[in-house]
Amino acid sequence: MNTDPRNAAGEGEFDDVAHALERFREAGYLADDRLATTVFLQTRLGKPVLLEGPAGVGKTQFATSLAAVTGRRLIRLQCYEGQDETKALYEWDYGKQMLYTQILREKIGQVVEDAADLNEAVERIAKQDSVFFSERFLAPRPLLEAIDSDEPVVLLIDEVDRADEALEAVLLELLSEFQISIPEVGTVKAEQLPYVVLTSNNTRDLSAALKRRCLHLFLDYPEAQRELEIINSKDTGLSEALAVRLIEIVRGLRALELRKAPSISETIDWARTLAVLGVSELSADVLSQTLNVVVKYERDLKKALAAIPTLVDPNAKVPSKNDHGHGHGHGHGHGHGHGADGDHSHDDGDAEVDGKEVRAAKDRPGRHGDNYGGPGKSDEAPAVKTVTASQGERSFAARSARKRPV
Ligand SMILES: Nc1ncnc2c1ncn2[C@@H]1O[C@H](COP(=O)(O)OP(=O)(O)OP(=O)(O)O)[C@@H](O)[C@H]1O
Ligand SMILES: [Mg+2]
Repeated sequence: MNTDPRNAAGEGEFDDVAHALERFREAGYLADDRLATTVFLQTRLGKPVLLEGPAGVGKTQFATSLAAVTGRRLIRLQCYEGQDETKALYEWDYGKQMLYTQILREKIGQVVEDAADLNEAVERIAKQDSVFFSERFLAPRPLLEAIDSDEPVVLLIDEVDRADEALEAVLLELLSEFQISIPEVGTVKAEQLPYVVLTSNNTRDLSAALKRRCLHLFLDYPEAQRELEIINSKDTGLSEALAVRLIEIVRGLRALELRKAPSISETIDWARTLAVLGVSELSADVLSQTLNVVVKYERDLKKALAAIPTLVDPNAKVPSKNDHGHGHGHGHGHGHGHGADGDHSHDDGDAEVDGKEVRAAKDRPGRHGDNYGGPGKSDEAPAVKTVTASQGERSFAARSARKRPV
């Protein structure tokens, strides 16, 4: 089949950028103009979108919202280290092949019955290969499932930077041609153009070939106003006045060089926490007591705790090298190099505390600005463990009927 699915790109999905913005808003996702423009272009040009950015800025949620907005089914490939084609594209259903050979034993016996010798018997069986390596025995994985879907779908290739470069190479054919070549079967080409969304936390550079095939967008922390709208839209229970203050504090924390800066999801969690505690004022004490909701590393916690009094009250008196006084009860003024920014001397040894070079390397931001404190979730556990069982089952659910090789 040589029809280019891009010819069927979603004209009419969104009238214009403003319409895209509005539709996403209705679905509970507050995009900015750049993202709305990107998705509008995606639906018009039929190109995949690659979203890069720190953890928790709404990359995955964008794809789920795109599915909701367009009424498409979401097919998700969660990438991880060591993932190979059989988990991403397809594999042969050996169990089914075995079952069929058992059931068809008699028939197979007939095929080789009058073979003169073993060689001839093998030759005859080999001629039947195409029976067993046909679509009937293919177990599709998310990428093939998306390409072969009868219904238009959104294909989310999540955290592609966690996958090995070999898998990235496998994606190239799909991303440019919307097709997958299966040597034994032929080429399966999408009849319905999937909207493909790739996300990356930038733990490694993606290839130029992959980027070239995508509309690329760096998603950063939102402007204060948009973050406020997002918080307000989440029914956190926190008053608007306190939410405004909270966002100022969070933005102040982001300006510290934390290993993992708080993201939108952390702001939401913090707002909910403070609402549940029924606070009526964002004091340094209450913020310090709940800081663990947004700051997840001990070193970061120390830095953030030291910064909170100044973030709450810029005029707060905090200890510095030249000031041995007490600020909001947090400073001790013993003159051992505790700067106002809380830069404790043993911070430098933090990488050793973790003891993993790989992690330390991943911790270093790539092209992100200074405020991006690292790849987030990839720090918390070995990549492969972050794939939950349910994700696996959902992603790898096989379908029985295959069709449309071309
Ligand atoms: N623009 C937005 N509008 C509404 N909610 C948002 C927006 N951006 C982020 N959120 C909320 O922030 C949370 C985190 O979003 P999401 O999981 O998509 O982040 P992510 O960028 O995929 O993070 P990670 O890299 O850790 O996977 C979600 O609960 C989502 O609802
Ligand atoms: Mg995500």
